[in-house]
This record gives sequence, structure tokens and C-alpha cells, in this order.
Amino acid sequence: MTGVSQDNHFLPINLFEYENLASQHLSQMALDYYNSGAWDEVTLRDNRAAFERVKLLPRMLVDVSDRNLNTSILGEPLQLPLLIAPMAFQCLAHPDGEVATAIAAASAGVGMVLSTLATKSIEEVATVQQNFPNALQWFQLYIHKDRGLTRALVERAKTAGYKALCLTVDAPILGRRERDRRNEFSLPPGLHAANLATISRLDIPYEQGESGLFTYFTQQLNPALTWKDLAWLQSICPLPLVIKGILRKDDAVRAVECGAKAIIVSNHGGRQLDGAIASLDALAEIVAVVDGRAEVLLDGGIRRGTDILKAIALGAKAVLIGRPVLWGLALAGTAGVSHIISLLEDEFSVAMALSGCAKLQDIDSTLVKQVSVSGS
Ligand code: GLV
Repeated sequence: MTGVSQDNHFLPINLFEYENLASQHLSQMALDYYNSGAWDEVTLRDNRAAFERVKLLPRMLVDVSDRNLNTSILGEPLQLPLLIAPMAFQCLAHPDGEVATAIAAASAGVGMVLSTLATKSIEEVATVQQNFPNALQWFQLYIHKDRGLTRALVERAKTAGYKALCLTVDAPILGRRERDRRNEFSLPPGLHAANLATISRLDIPYEQGESGLFTYFTQQLNPALTWKDLAWLQSICPLPLVIKGILRKDDAVRAVECGAKAIIVSNHGGRQLDGAIASLDALAEIVAVVDGRAEVLLDGGIRRGTDILKAIALGAKAVLIGRPVLWGLALAGTAGVSHIISLLEDEFSVAMALSGCAKLQDIDSTLVKQVSVSGS
């Protein structure tokens, strides 16, 4: 981790230290864009608090000398149950942006979901597959009003070797992030939404008194999207469909019925509907109704190895991390993201050992207990 230690004479030992350091490296506009949630940021905070409400019931006197963190997602192997969540505009953090993140993910054997709103193109990020043939790369899709543009994105992802299409369904319009509104968020000169600029010269506008991304969503994305449109999407794309942004049991059932192979329980990092339930609080009921018919993943608030353990105990097959990756990227590019992943891997392995789990299958619902405010 030379990048971080040389520049700062200080090597972070956890994700919170990364957060503090990154806040000194990023421009105010980038920091606010990455870290903010919608409105009062209640859901943003609750994503973290939910993990603190869940307590562990560790199992004793189990041989945990050899621990195996391997798993698979949609039939593809992962070295630990972790993927990098789709996050827009990663070149705001580092000039190599999404390519740097993709190299770190692939070399650690974790998955990466590339955002439609990436600052590196679908094809550039896919070149990482040449050095890492097992790289698990998914493409996150926003369905635009312009179906031709949407189709072109999907075809490019398929041709470039992405292994699944991850449709975000919680953003018919963009959530109100007031820090971005105050900053009149837009991309600085030289940065572009690479995939949109190459298709139709669309980009994130500057707008006075408004977040340019909010304006982009309002102008370009399709707020009329319904479940019926999933059939169209599947008709143009043979890749497995992953639906991201589910918080309700009935929506989870609907997603399965529509053919989703995986569901990501997510509130978009608290960036869409403020007041929405914390992802972790929504997880167990969704796992129950899905009943093995699709894989269930979770994002929102993962900062410690114990968080991964809790999510898996509550039924997630894997988790996604978002903002910490941007903090690592901001501090040291690929090396920073690799370090973030290895910190989590190490913490997760320690948490498994201390809970009496030698492999992921040992992590079951008896390991966790939701403690109410009264402590019962
Ligand atoms: C984009 O998807 C964002 O949440 O900013």
C-alpha cells in the first residue's frame, strides 16, 4: 500500500480511517456527491445503525484453523462474498477511475458492477478481463427514455463480456441530495459520462441552483418504467438479470416472477427516498419470500467484516460495498481499493473465526439476534 503510506506516512487500518483521510483529498463537490444521502440523510445513517442493532451469538469450541471465504454468484466463483457496487463518476476520485477499481476487484477475486454513469467506458473497463479472465464484471443499467440508447448500452455490455445486467429500479427520478443541489453538482472540465458521451453526446449538464445529475435524470431517464418493461429488456439481452433496489417482499416476489436471477436489497446508499428502511432491516423477510428462487445480495452501510457476517447470517449470498471504494480510490487508486478489500477480507475472516465459522455455510441465522431498544 505504498500510495497511502508514502503520501501520508500513515496507513489506515480500517475503513473509517480511509473515510477521514479521503475527505482531505477530494474536492468539496466530489466529497459531497459521493458521501451525501437524500434530504435529512436519515436512511443513510440508519443503514449503519441497523448493523449495530444486530448482535452476534458466537459459537464456541469449533475448529476454525482453516477458514474458507470462497463462494459463487450466479455460478461464477468469488474469493469472498463481496462485490463493488455500481458508483458513478469514479474519475472524480482518481484519474484511472473505474479501470483502477476494476483491476483491484479482479485481482482480489471479488465482483464489480460498472455504472451506466461511469467516467470510463464499458469497453475500457472490460479490458481488465484480458489480464484477469475470471473477472466478475456486471453492467448496471439505467433505462433511458431513448430506447435506442438503452439498447446500445446493453449490446455494448454484452459484447464486452459483462456477465450480468444489473437494473437499478429505485431511481425513476433522482433523490434530492441537498449538498449536490447547493454545490450545483456537475462534472469538472475534462470528465464525461463516458458511455453516454460516446453514444449520443449526452452528458451531465451544469444547471444553476440545481444538481446537474438531477436534471440529467429528469430529462433523460424513464420515470414511466414498470415491471412490464422487464420483458422488453430480457428480449434484447440474454445476460442474467439482477434487480437492484428492492426493499419490499411483494417487489421481491415480482422480481423473481419476472425472471430476475438475483436481487440486491438496497436503498441506493440512502440517496433516493429518505426515510426508506435500512437495507439490513429489509433483508431477512425478502430472503424468506424469495425462498431460494434467486440469489439475494445486500448493499448499504457495510464498513466492517462483522457487517458482512451479519448480512450473510440474515440470508444474503454476498454484499456490495460502495463509498469505501471511492475513499480508497481517492487516496491511492488501485492500491487503495485493493487495501480496502483486503481490510474487509481480513476482518471478515477474523469475525468468522471468533463466531465459530470455518466456511460460509456455517454462517446461519442462529448467529444473530435483533436487540430491541428495551434490550429484550
Ligand atoms: C447515481 O446513481 C447516484 O446515486 O448518484
